[in-house]
Amino acid sequence: MKHLDVKDVLTNKEYTGKEVTVCGWVRTARDSKNMAFFELNDGTSLKHIQVVIDKAVLNVDDEALKLGASVKVVGTAVEGRQELNEINAKEVVLLGASPADYPLQKKRHTLEFLRTMPHLRTRTNTFNAVLRVRSVMANSIHTYFQSHNYVYVNTPLITGSDCEGAGETFTVTTIGHSDKYKTSDEYYADDFFGRRATLSVSGQLEGEVAAMAMGKIYTFGPSFRAENSNTPRHVAEFWHVEPEVAFAELPDIIEIAEDMIKYIVRDVLEKCPEEIKFFDERFEKGLIDKLNNLINNDFAILDYTDAVKMLEESGKQFQYPVYWGADLQTEHERYITEEVYNKPVFITNYPKAIKSFYMKQNPDGKTVAATDLLVPGVGEIIGCSEREADYDKLMAAMKERNMKIEEYADYIDLRRFGSVPHSGFGLGFERIIMYVTGMTNIRDVILYPRTVGNIR
Ligand code: 4AD
Repeated sequence: MKHLDVKDVLTNKEYTGKEVTVCGWVRTARDSKNMAFFELNDGTSLKHIQVVIDKAVLNVDDEALKLGASVKVVGTAVEGRQELNEINAKEVVLLGASPADYPLQKKRHTLEFLRTMPHLRTRTNTFNAVLRVRSVMANSIHTYFQSHNYVYVNTPLITGSDCEGAGETFTVTTIGHSDKYKTSDEYYADDFFGRRATLSVSGQLEGEVAAMAMGKIYTFGPSFRAENSNTPRHVAEFWHVEPEVAFAELPDIIEIAEDMIKYIVRDVLEKCPEEIKFFDERFEKGLIDKLNNLINNDFAILDYTDAVKMLEESGKQFQYPVYWGADLQTEHERYITEEVYNKPVFITNYPKAIKSFYMKQNPDGKTVAATDLLVPGVGEIIGCSEREADYDKLMAAMKERNMKIEEYADYIDLRRFGSVPHSGFGLGFERIIMYVTGMTNIRDVILYPRTVGNIR
């Protein structure tokens, strides 16, 4: 079906005065005695295009003026409001009718209501804007890494090792319920891979394999976590950006993370000004200023030990106790990012007992060279560390955690053949979209959120 994008017809003056064809879904419609007007959106722009029908000249099927109907319009583009083109219709073809039970009749619905219809909420302005910002940000991420000589690698989604060691994995099996096996070992021995396999929580371990040859790599794909946490920041299937950099120590990777975040935010501000203005008006007042401040200021870096001191001396009554060795809870992270710094903060050098086995152990014997990047409003968006490159120390850390060494044979081998200092991080794609759009629930920045008890 030959037609133009609404975005181009709206803004490109070359079309003014010319005959154009556009297709889309009806977003608003007004009918009067002599004239009818409707606004059409085809998803290429946040703004709709107005179609004007002179009833003396053109007879239009009533069904084409119903909200949600899909139509093709042929007509002359003329300059209308705000210097945008509209279309004086010559022909309106109804492609698909939309009966009165089309749920998006009202202009504004709550996000909770829209979550009940993931297949239709995409036709609202909010999701139009979210999905375009998401797409532009994905491109920014690729452009950032590609332009800095990183190699994009695709790590496996089915794995035999649990990267984070937290046990929050989905098992991949072809057997299912059976009384045939007495033990889980027997069960998995008979299963598809001959041993237990899971969906990957992170591509890091395989990413390190690639980085030990290609130097700088990144992955960008889904990760899966069976965390039973029904929060506005967790989904069971999220998109994960994971660079891994050889010859980089913790301060180097912190610099890279900050540079990458600033690049993405700058790019989205430049490429999606209308969408960001929309979010500023509707969802987070001051969003544009927040994003500009992020670009123009250094992120804070705060040692975990100092963070604990800061929390202890805050005079605040926290629900969860603060002490050296405790994992920071959302309320603690919020205090630090929102009340103290009001900007992104890297918290560094966490106690080793609350972090993963692969993190480089600091000389103090108590902490690891790891950092989380926390941002106001969302909390943690990046988990980052220098990796333990020393064979003996890595083995000791794994044994301390009673890990099955044989499941990590390749990973350990990397420490035997030309091991180098190296670091990497994982950025939660949905989490940074939340930060950039001001959306406060992760379920509203992904097409089909997978959460506990929900697999529509
Ligand atoms: O801090 P995490 O667990 O780090 C890792 O997985 C490392 N292996 C990454 C690396 O060093 N290559 O997760 C990284 C980020 C978190 O900061 C968060 O943004 C996101 O992944 N994330 C989630 N996002 C949405 N829903 C969930 N359930 C998430 N779990 C983690």
